[in-house]
Amino acid sequence: MEVRIECAKKEDFAEMITLADLTLPDRMNLHELKKYMELFPELIFKATSGGELIGFSCAGIDMYQTTGWLLFSNVRKDFQGQGIGKRLIEARLQALRRFPTLRTVLVTVSETNHSSVRALSAHGFRLARAEQDYYGPGKHRHVLELPVWPMAHPATESPRWEDDVQAI
Ligand SMILES: CC(C)(COP(=O)(O)OP(=O)(O)OC[C@H]1O[C@@H](n2cnc3c(N)ncnc32)[C@H](O)[C@@H]1OP(=O)(O)O)[C@@H](O)C(=O)NCCC(=O)NCCS
Repeated sequence: MEVRIECAKKEDFAEMITLADLTLPDRMNLHELKKYMELFPELIFKATSGGELIGFSCAGIDMYQTTGWLLFSNVRKDFQGQGIGKRLIEARLQALRRFPTLRTVLVTVSETNHSSVRALSAHGFRLARAEQDYYGPGKHRHVLELPVWPMAHPATESPRWEDDVQAI
């Protein structure tokens, strides 16, 4: 069945929390999700199959709009390993790239989370630093980074008439 990736809405919250509790217990909660939706409504994506929620992911951006963050991602267990995690990364990167000032995207990941590490590496993320006790004693994380180069904007100005005259 076709898997659709699209922006999540507030009406999806209940299903999203139920799913998060199954895929990564004690990590995401309704308060956090509500804050993400208030702050970054266009950076939260859901994956559905046959109208059913099978995954979702969140991203954010700093107040200077230069540093994006991939904040959370999950896919229902029976749908994992089918490329949906990668599509959720791509959806967030595309949305972040709409900020013209974006220069880098960061994400924290446990080095033992092999599917996350593989999916992020495939998108070009590289180790920036290892942070001991990032989420508390023993909860170390790697911070991965994806540098973003400014997009070349096609010339939007039409040629000036003076230039045409000189060219003749
Ligand atoms: C992390 C997660 C979102 C990835 O989603 P997914 O849909 O399974 O990811 P993909 O199918 O796009 O696979 C990504 C890569 O991981 C690999 N992979 C998938 N399952 C794997 C496993 N159990 N062990 C090792 N690699 C695995 C895939 O082969 C793929 O790598 P490849 O392209 O080099 O072959 C999903 O596994 C998940 O929900 N995990 C629990 C929650 C979590 O840890 N979230 C991340 C922290 S917020």
